[in-house]
Amino acid sequence: MLASVASKQMRHKACANAIKASASSLEQKRNLHDLMLRKKTGQPFTRQGAGGRSTSNGHVATVFGCTGFLGRYVVNRLAQQGTQVVIAHRDPDEARPLKVTGDLGQIVPLEVDLKDRETINEVVRHSDIVYNLIGRDYETKNYTFDQVHVDGARAIAEACAENDVARLVHVSALNANEDSTSGFLRSKARGEKAVREVIPGATIVRPGTMYGQEDRFLNRIGTGEGWQFWVNESKAKIRPVYAIDVAQAMEIFLTAESTIGKTYEFYGPKEYTYEQIFELAREISKKPLPTYNVPTSIAKLAAKLVDRLPYNQMICPDLIERMTLDDKPTPGALTFADLYIEPTDLDAVAIQFLRRFRSTAIFDLPFEKGDGQVKKGVYHVID
Ligand SMILES: NC(=O)c1ccc[n+]([C@@H]2O[C@H](COP(=O)([O-])OP(=O)(O)OC[C@H]3O[C@@H](n4cnc5c(N)ncnc54)[C@H](OP(=O)(O)O)[C@@H]3O)[C@@H](O)[C@H]2O)c1
Repeated sequence: MLASVASKQMRHKACANAIKASASSLEQKRNLHDLMLRKKTGQPFTRQGAGGRSTSNGHVATVFGCTGFLGRYVVNRLAQQGTQVVIAHRDPDEARPLKVTGDLGQIVPLEVDLKDRETINEVVRHSDIVYNLIGRDYETKNYTFDQVHVDGARAIAEACAENDVARLVHVSALNANEDSTSGFLRSKARGEKAVREVIPGATIVRPGTMYGQEDRFLNRIGTGEGWQFWVNESKAKIRPVYAIDVAQAMEIFLTAESTIGKTYEFYGPKEYTYEQIFELAREISKKPLPTYNVPTSIAKLAAKLVDRLPYNQMICPDLIERMTLDDKPTPGALTFADLYIEPTDLDAVAIQFLRRFRSTAIFDLPFEKGDGQVKKGVYHVID
């Protein structure tokens, strides 16, 4: 009898010790830096777990434009660090592949209509940060530039204000200017103004031409063999930026409250003329990729006709106008350096995106730059 009572007491003691040990190990997992308070709302966030895709960082983010080129990288980056991401989309088939970027239940697809405020409210109301990546290179019969970049941006900002969303990150474009000769860039500048009128603390991002695996820049140059036309003798100077660098900055905005109310311009470390980019594409793809210079006015006229085709998504007169404009970063504007990001050099990674245009016979050849130096280690980790 006495022996059984003693063994029972020992079991209780062991059990109490185990509970104590597990409680202290839980305590050790939470530190002060795991707690964050949102400046605007005072909302607390606590991280749970060691960090990463299968844990939770406590944030809920809504991404508009998630199905686009940059949007996919942004959703992936946010989900990888345990953010619950509401992917606001129009086409469920386009949004579905994004489900696997996060753990079970972390990616929440919700449909949105930019002209329907109810649906916008619905997708932002649980979030503490909203990313607006919506943009369109050309006008359609349903949406003008202003409807997408100004009215749409204002509607999202107003919904954020109404639902007390702590942060809004709005993506505009490098060279956005109300006096620009491009309607796209004028509307982007008006969009920035509209957003700041509603939410002065919005973070505005102005990326240059973005490149990456599914871009509409290097892929267009690489596939354009034989029909490639260009304007302004390909002399316009641009500073292409790696989409993954921009996505990395967007990830930093999630927690860096010092970025509230600031405007960032993201562009690559080197300036290129379009002709130099063509030359790079020729060297890597080992294809002639001829370009034909067309006077800008004729190109615009042709683009105007092509733009009337119901299925055209390639060219419009405003795009021709943008091909003639140099990238002009604003002097003194905040950029990658202010977020401690080193922008990727296009020369170093272009082979990843242009190699696929090579013939199979020379597919594995290393990239030899014009100066005869064989570039080694040009592979870059894609996430
Ligand atoms: N790519 C560049 O080189 C570049 C350069 C400068 C600035 N930017 C800006 O950066 C942002 C992201 O660029 P991106 O290349 O990722 O753009 P993208 O690939 O063209 O994607 C645009 C996104 O916006 C959505 N969208 C467009 N019109 C919409 C509308 N009326 N209603 C709802 N959604 C709409 C699209 O949804 P659907 O899939 O449903 O069409 C898509 O998810 C855009 O604001 C763009 O203007 C891009």
